Amino acid sequence: MGIAGFGKTELRYDMFDLVSNASEAKRLAKCEGIYHRGQELAWDGKEILPMLIEKHGGIHVAPEKQEALKRVFAIILWGELAAWKVSAQLADGLVPLEAKMAATGQAFDEARHFYVMHDYLEQLGYVPERLDRAPQALLDLVLDTDNLAYKLLGMQLMIETLALTIFQTVRESEVEPVLCELMRYYERDEARHVGLGMQYLPSLISRMKKHEVSQLITFQVRLLAWALWELKVLEPDLAVLGLDPRFIIERGRKKQLAALYEAFSALGWAWQEDKNYPAAVLKAIVEFTFPTDASRADRRNMFTSAWNAFWNKDEIHTALEFDVHDAHRIRTARGLDL
Ligand SMILES: [Fe+2]
Ligand SMILES: [Fe+2]
Repeated sequence: MGIAGFGKTELRYDMFDLVSNASEAKRLAKCEGIYHRGQELAWDGKEILPMLIEKHGGIHVAPEKQEALKRVFAIILWGELAAWKVSAQLADGLVPLEAKMAATGQAFDEARHFYVMHDYLEQLGYVPERLDRAPQALLDLVLDTDNLAYKLLGMQLMIETLALTIFQTVRESEVEPVLCELMRYYERDEARHVGLGMQYLPSLISRMKKHEVSQLITFQVRLLAWALWELKVLEPDLAVLGLDPRFIIERGRKKQLAALYEAFSALGWAWQEDKNYPAAVLKAIVEFTFPTDASRADRRNMFTSAWNAFWNKDEIHTALEFDVHDAHRIRTARGLDL
């Protein structure tokens, strides 16, 4: 604490001096771009939601799907609040100007995601209530840690990629026209937020010691385990909505791997060759918790699939995973279709 302007201060006068090499400078420039792109693409929830409701003549969901839709999107609602809080924490805690700007832009987006989802769910008759244990534990892990690298990995790379996966899969399902079109707006924003994680996490990791990186991987595995449990809890609701949890896991895993690959390759680390055993074990566990029809029919198939899942390397295509979200045209608050 400073006294009368002397001593320690919260103002980081070194915020412009922290670049260690050209690759980091390039990544920070991308973070600054994320902030400005967010300004350009900002949309007005108070305009868009009523516009979509009018366009589709109201919210239309089959009565048997209504409760399931509410339960899945209640998790999204509180996840948006968690993302809002985490991005505000990052906006305060990250030091370099460009990373701070990107996190601040994200907090602005997440506030909009939260109130728009609340307005939408209110129309479905949702009354806010506490989440189930698994999604609560997943969000608490990221909210409660003071470590900014854990927050970036947990929120921007793991939870937001899972959210993108759910948004994309719900949109393709055509379960409810207003929500499906709204997902295009959310996807456009969330893809930028994953971008902040991919661009800035390498800077935080590069300053870690080896054992700290191992602890980060352990944190990642805890997150993945809770995320799997969450999907298990949601399995009956996803089935009612016609969504296959196994498909969501596979799609989500590909996006997470692509984001991690991008972050780690910026450090010159070969993510693929450095086998992440805990993550591979979790991949094998999926074969037991979410078996395919073939595995259900014959348990030996389940063991073979688990064994293969553990050892198989994944093909990674970062652009393929995220371009789809960036390609949506949206109506911005400035009245442009971009
Ligand atoms: Fe969001
Ligand atoms: Fe987000």
